[in-house]
Amino acid sequence: MDRTLIILKPDTIQRGLIGQVLQRFEQKGLSLGAMKFMKISRDLAERHYAPHKGKPFYPGLIDYITSGPVVVLVLQGNRCIEISRTLMGKTFGFEAAPGTIRGDFGASRSYNLVHGSDSPESASTEIALYFKDDELLEYSLASSGWVYPKDDS
Ligand code: RTP
Ligand code: MG
Repeated sequence: MDRTLIILKPDTIQRGLIGQVLQRFEQKGLSLGAMKFMKISRDLAERHYAPHKGKPFYPGLIDYITSGPVVVLVLQGNRCIEISRTLMGKTFGFEAAPGTIRGDFGASRSYNLVHGSDSPESASTEIALYFKDDELLEYSLASSGWVYPKDDS
């Protein structure tokens, strides 16, 4: 089962958009494997964004992601990494296409509402930063057979 880590960033919470952003993933047919509401510590943020350490935007990125509570979720389903990145849209809100989360709600470089893992390797590293194995729930949604046909490859 493919899995990805999604974070609804502090601007999503402060703007009252949790429900609308979650709905984008839910209505696509992805299933929720885990979810928590939390404040990310600087230590955790630095581990999460270690691949960006040294880049000019890194200090601002750490300040932003630790600035308020976030919702962290694991989504499950075939191709969920690619699907989630497509739903999120391009990194900067002003470049993201209408219909995407960032394209519909974002206007800046940094306040871009959501994080999504960008590869199977980053998904597994990131999921382990936020969740223990026994917090990840495996089950079938009643609707999944109508989202993913059996012979779909
Ligand atoms: P994310 O990791 O948050 O899902 O976003 P992403 O893959 O679309 O973008 P990434 O390249 O991984 O960058 C991580 C976050 O850093 C901020 N950023 N600012 N000022 C800049 O040029 C710049 N570039 C990246 C964004 O907040 C981005 O989400
Ligand atoms: Mg990224």
